[in-house]
Amino acid sequence: MHYLITAGPTHEPIDAVRFIGNRSSGRMGVAIATAARDAGHRVTLLLGPTSVEAPAGCELRRFRTTEDLRARLHETFPTCDILVMAAAVADFRPVMTDPSRKLERTGNLTLHLEATPDLLAEIAATARSTQRVVGFALEEPARLEERARAKLARKGLHAIVANPLETMDAPGVQGQLFLIDGTVRRPEQWPAPIGKDLFARWLVRTVDGVWTAGGPADG
Ligand code: CTP
Repeated sequence: MHYLITAGPTHEPIDAVRFIGNRSSGRMGVAIATAARDAGHRVTLLLGPTSVEAPAGCELRRFRTTEDLRARLHETFPTCDILVMAAAVADFRPVMTDPSRKLERTGNLTLHLEATPDLLAEIAATARSTQRVVGFALEEPARLEERARAKLARKGLHAIVANPLETMDAPGVQGQLFLIDGTVRRPEQWPAPIGKDLFARWLVRTVDGVWTAGGPADG
């Protein structure tokens, strides 16, 4: 199988030297790429601006902005079997008048932000019947399942990994995998948080079990 995995934050430029970003480290996506490689899959990793090292043995392409990631996705998605969209894509970006200039400090500054395109919904709409698309969602614990399931349907995904908000930048995850057939898969330790490497191995095993071996790998 050919896994396409996106990881890390996006940086949206404000001017020639500044940007708006987020706290994503990219470690979750890199751990999934490593686990998929170790399971014997071909792996393409689209990695954002982060200092986390990419695993050896993966085809690596870097992105910085949402627009870069969009271009990389359109190039690589047609040849993959499974997309795992772990990247923390910006929801808004500054509207820039002149990207080559550095803004001077002459007083207060108001930034105008525009919504970014939903890359996941856009790419999922192009999926062939044999391709599978897995999204990620960070949600407030009280409404996690309801919101994750709504996102799964709205974006046209096959499954979504939902984590409580505090997961970003944290060492452990409390993730659950909601499938389009209405079922949910959880690591046996759930709801206790587990390390990202362990979660990544569980996720690849589960996805492989659901979509390649004809049945779920475990509970
Ligand atoms: N995502 C994307 N393009 C965006 C924003 C998010 O492809 N512009 C992807 C993320 O990579 C993730 C999934 O969509 O896999 C969910 O991201 P999230 O930020 O939780 O969802 P939003 O669509 O931004 O929904 P909301 O802000 O309403 O919670």
